[in-house]
Amino acid sequence: MNLPKISTQKDYEKAYLYSLENPESFWASIAEHFVWKRKWDSVLEYNWLKPETKWFEGGKLNITENCLDRHLKTKGDQVAIIWEPNDPKDEALHITYKELHRRVSKFANVLKSYNVEKGDRVCIYMPMILELTVAVLACARIGAVHSVVFAGFSSKALAARINDASCKLLLTTDGSYRGNKITPLKDIADEALKFCPTIEKTIVYKRTGQDVNWGGNDVWWHEAIKNADDFCKAEVMEAEDMLFILYTSGSTGKPKGMVHTCGGYMVYTAYTFQNVFQYEEGDVYWCSADIGWITGHSYIVYGPLSSGATTVMFEGVPSYPDYGRFWGICEKHKVNQFYTAPTAIRALAKHPIDLVNKHDLSQLKTLGTVGEPINEEAWRWYNKHVGKGNCPIVDTWWQTETGGILISSLAGVTRQKKTYATLPMIGVSPILLDNKGGEIKTKEAEGILAIKQPWPSIARTIYGNHKRYKDVYFTAYEGLYFPGDGALRDENGNYRITGRVDDVVIVSGHNLGTAPIENAINEHEAVVESAVVGFQHDVKGNALYAYVILYDRFDASENLLQTIRNKVTETIGPIAKPDKIQFVSSLPKTRSGKIMRRILRKIATNEISNLGDTSTLLNPDVVQEIIDKRL
Ligand code: WTA
Repeated sequence: MNLPKISTQKDYEKAYLYSLENPESFWASIAEHFVWKRKWDSVLEYNWLKPETKWFEGGKLNITENCLDRHLKTKGDQVAIIWEPNDPKDEALHITYKELHRRVSKFANVLKSYNVEKGDRVCIYMPMILELTVAVLACARIGAVHSVVFAGFSSKALAARINDASCKLLLTTDGSYRGNKITPLKDIADEALKFCPTIEKTIVYKRTGQDVNWGGNDVWWHEAIKNADDFCKAEVMEAEDMLFILYTSGSTGKPKGMVHTCGGYMVYTAYTFQNVFQYEEGDVYWCSADIGWITGHSYIVYGPLSSGATTVMFEGVPSYPDYGRFWGICEKHKVNQFYTAPTAIRALAKHPIDLVNKHDLSQLKTLGTVGEPINEEAWRWYNKHVGKGNCPIVDTWWQTETGGILISSLAGVTRQKKTYATLPMIGVSPILLDNKGGEIKTKEAEGILAIKQPWPSIARTIYGNHKRYKDVYFTAYEGLYFPGDGALRDENGNYRITGRVDDVVIVSGHNLGTAPIENAINEHEAVVESAVVGFQHDVKGNALYAYVILYDRFDASENLLQTIRNKVTETIGPIAKPDKIQFVSSLPKTRSGKIMRRILRKIATNEISNLGDTSTLLNPDVVQEIIDKRL
């Protein structure tokens, strides 16, 4: 399905102005290209003081009819998904739209047979196998709300997410393959389910064939689908009905279940997919993200499939069997658009260049990055060795909360500038604010990023906690959306994202709140208190530095360090493990008892010459002690 394409810088400028002045007629003209069961009554209703945002109200649709059914006539035999297994010696799958439609319908009927109804929440804790996409779409088919939990999360993190959304069903696998590692997902799920009273059934896909414990509420996927029908009528959804919940870290407290709805999300992800990557009919597109994150939701599943594209899913890791795997896959499947994270680029750039050069990458047209600012060195390497100087690089800035890309160049259409995300997407109105919340009107500026008016795929709320949604995103600057990032703007209006302005640290492209990590460390019996901050890291972008106070009766040993790390792995997952843990006698605090993370951040990055005024601290002496023993 081809949406109107922006194909020159002039086109962009014209459409951009039009979209901000006439958002309703602009987005209606895009939405018209989709299949609706009933047309909307109003395009946009919003009030960000409340806050409330509604797109295409009165419209009825099912997103899977747009991702599947509508393509059957014209491209039923076209490949929808190329699935590349962990082990390159195993066979890749080429699943046509017809076949995907059949598998989704079948599994949707399975969900129904276990009494899953419209609005019920289904938790999906699965690795990157084809059935993960089938599961996601099967939920959407019957109007169930999917909540995908990244398969690298621990049992505690999984349980917290299941309980937050009171999920009825859990979908998982016996185990998962990632490189040489086999993770026993079913065991982890079993552990989580001890604390999840709302789960009625667990459907388990057999991937690794390892032994698993079997309970009365467990069902094998292959048995469940045996007698299921191939046809499943799509549930009629309101444009503003919930499509999915996806958790993201907050700077405080428990993870936030961001709620995305059907209509606006569909329109915006397809539109940005086609325009940012300049996807053309017949191209093969690959996004190397995991569907456990928003990038996978929007730009592996929904954006590409609603566009009728061919999208690659990769089960494994970039380092297996060697550090040339990504390029091997690009060659093997003749990938035209490749989308990955700066941290992956930095990790791969450390290895012999022959691992890139031995692969034929001549079919690549567009490269993309997402997840964190891309540094100049990584940008140059990506451009020179992967793109051979011929592929535009789109540096896409966006968030779980925004649903789709908000700032990026359009590949080969608008001008790129290395390390800059560049210009806002059509319909997106970024501004920069000073410390007092006033808009900085000069062209060249640095400040706090905010967005002035709604775009169709903004998350509508935090599941079960609209007040927190308001507090986090709409309270700092009244009437504006506050993403939590800082940015620079050059004289041509290009934006460069400079990083988080809150207590979220982006480690290897993963969003990690420091508060939940501190909570995990504090759960250790030896720990009195801790503070976690980010510091710059060559490959990961940022890594975590933990300052920990121990009870007197415990000695700072290597073994103790390991058990503290394990605590974090158990509570959140391995991605949240601190790289450095320093034992301290106390933490610098204000007189009101607040930990001065600003100072700890500077010490962690070795910027100790300018710590600012420390004299008003409750305990100024501890600063020198921490500096002397820094790691
Ligand atoms: C950061 C990922 C700079 C940013 C889609 C944002 C980026 C957070 C970029 C959201 C980029 C994402 N340049 N920073 N191109 N893309 N970020 O929710 O700090 O996992 O707020 O969504 O990642 O991370 P999330």
